[in-house]
Amino acid sequence: MSAFEFLWTELLSRNVIIYSSFVRRSVSLTAGLNYGSWFLLQFHNSLSVFQTSSGSLTDLSHPTSLPAAEQFIELRQRVETEFQFRFGYVPLVVAAAPGRVNLIGEHVDYNHGFVLPMAIERYVIIAAAPSSNPSQEHATFYSSDMQESIDVPISASSGPTCSGWGRYLEGVIAGFVSRGCNVPPFDAVIGSSVPRGGGLSSSAALEVATATMLEGITGQQLEPLEKAILCQRAEHKFAGMPCGIMDQFSSVFGMPNELMLLDCISQEIQVVPFRDENVSVLITNSNVKHELATGEYAERRRQCESALAELGLLSWRDVTLADLDLARRRLTTDELACGRHVVTEIGRTLDAAKAFANGQWALVGELMYSSHESLQKDFRVSCAELDTLVRIAREIGSEDGVYGSRMTGGGFGGCSVTLVRSGRAKPVRERILMQYENETSVQGSSFTSRPAIGTHLVKRNAHDN
Ligand code: GLA
Repeated sequence: MSAFEFLWTELLSRNVIIYSSFVRRSVSLTAGLNYGSWFLLQFHNSLSVFQTSSGSLTDLSHPTSLPAAEQFIELRQRVETEFQFRFGYVPLVVAAAPGRVNLIGEHVDYNHGFVLPMAIERYVIIAAAPSSNPSQEHATFYSSDMQESIDVPISASSGPTCSGWGRYLEGVIAGFVSRGCNVPPFDAVIGSSVPRGGGLSSSAALEVATATMLEGITGQQLEPLEKAILCQRAEHKFAGMPCGIMDQFSSVFGMPNELMLLDCISQEIQVVPFRDENVSVLITNSNVKHELATGEYAERRRQCESALAELGLLSWRDVTLADLDLARRRLTTDELACGRHVVTEIGRTLDAAKAFANGQWALVGELMYSSHESLQKDFRVSCAELDTLVRIAREIGSEDGVYGSRMTGGGFGGCSVTLVRSGRAKPVRERILMQYENETSVQGSSFTSRPAIGTHLVKRNAHDN
């Protein structure tokens, strides 16, 4: 019996009704895998994860590649099992939130620009339930990756009392309490497949997963926009990182098969379809993180603000290269260079969004290389390892499947993002990793991702299995 026949028989015998919007469009199942109460179903080239619940199948997360779906399920199972092991009862809610990769539009979210990120098929998953001791005034979190436990106060405090990763959790809980939510003491276990310190927004994913978990625990739903902003505030006030809005927005609003062109003034998202399966997004982690990242980020932000004030304008969107040139004597060399990056990057992002929508991969690639050069020379947030990754990708070239490459995220280490022809993704990946290690003596790592769905609850109560 084929996997398909087996699965189909199984579904029919359980009298399961498929009501996902996707399936309504196409009922020809081509393959499937059964993981207890979980099913991975493949329809033509797409794959969906379903979960059985009272005789129906709930479409859960729409991951589009088998390894990503398997990884998601394994992570969820690990987190739930760990919860039961640590706390001795079953979690009430399980929440997931993805990391992100930014295709282009770097360091312009806090400069009134446009960014073009997508959520990635890597998630932070949190299992939680109200604690059996209601007089407790804190939440107990256990990180299954760090094998560390932390008690986080449930209060409306305006700054951190916790250290390390506890600050993100504390900031989000404080945000909920400050807006009047009644947060009960609770226990939680966290697991993550988003690489930490890789510029893929592992901290935003942690904040957003915490917020979604709190929605499940308290029954109080936030507007998605409010949720993203509450999480950004947690990062500002509790982690001391003056980030823009891109990371939290991506983790909240991510959608399969779509890039998000986010207008960082109006905070509106224009969808840029990205369905072409012949093109893949390859994310390569340099596996280095230089310590100066947070300090330099704040410094760049200050330089951009002082340059704009000197120009006498309210928004970088109103600045042209000619304005910068006219003001060059009044600006410091660093301010001038930062301004040049911001102005050109805003233009490149809009051009890239159009090129993406039209499938003009060579043009997207050129814009990615220019973005990298601008971040390297003008904004000065790249590093030798990232430059090496991008150079190797460029040397491989379009004939061998690479359209373009650039550093992604805050910089000073972390990842590069490379657009590759899907059929060449494997050899390109192998060559980048091999050459990178030969040249730097550092072992990189990489994976591809389709645009993934944003944060969601994967389990709502003890009866949903
Ligand atoms: C970090 C910040 C984002 C953004 C990027 C650079 O990831 O959190 O807000 O500024 O750097 O584009």
